[in-house]
Amino acid sequence: MRFDVLTLFPEMFSGYVGQSLLRRAIDSGLVEVHIHNIRDWSPDKKHKKVDDRPYGGGPGMVLRVDCVVPCVEAVQAMTDQPGHLVMLTPQGRRLTQTVVRQLAGYPRLLLLCGRYEGFDERIRLLLAPDEISIGDYVLSGGETAAMVIMDAVSRLVPGVVGDPEGPQWDSFSEQMPGLEFAQYTRPREYRGLTVPSVLLSGDHARIAQWRQENSVERTRMRRADLFTPSGPPPTDSPPERQPPEQPGQATP
Ligand code: ADE
Repeated sequence: MRFDVLTLFPEMFSGYVGQSLLRRAIDSGLVEVHIHNIRDWSPDKKHKKVDDRPYGGGPGMVLRVDCVVPCVEAVQAMTDQPGHLVMLTPQGRRLTQTVVRQLAGYPRLLLLCGRYEGFDERIRLLLAPDEISIGDYVLSGGETAAMVIMDAVSRLVPGVVGDPEGPQWDSFSEQMPGLEFAQYTRPREYRGLTVPSVLLSGDHARIAQWRQENSVERTRMRRADLFTPSGPPPTDSPPERQPPEQPGQATP
């Protein structure tokens, strides 16, 4: 899996990429991370300005189309295989484990991080990115969201998590569509609280049954929304890659 991150703040990634599970994945050649500074594609060679005031007025600054589009095109051309372009924005489809699994199916992801009041709309029209939000709150930029995606996706790359069975049993996985069951380790007793005896029984069938019931009960108590008959919101399929027709475009 190759990640290309397009950002105005490349230095934000050094701590994360240098420390986490990702570091081991990179060292073992399973994952590559390339960080690109959008400023390097600014047409303003002197000040490297990448944003400007919104037409029509209003607060904040908007990321310029003539910086971001050349940056994405140049990064795409860095390998033979163009990547799946993800734009991090609170306006995108919500990130769920289903979406994470979809993203993990691509060999290369470009993660485009915004700042300020957002992206010039023509960036969306020209690049048709897969717009993704990590939740209904506004971050000061897409960088932390890009780290969330790299973390969740790289766990699904075979070999990255030590125990290959591990991610299969995570909450929201196919085996575990709700929340994961309660876990216990030593000591057997602490401040009067004991480990459920079934987990000490060695009876694998009974243990599996207990875990299944515990998972269902936890999900019902904590996240009843995961049981809704309608299933997840209808944002779980990636958009078509072709750019949509541009509004106002003259038809012959
Ligand atoms: N950028 C700002 N807020 C965001 C969010 N909630 N998800 C993804 N990118 C963002």
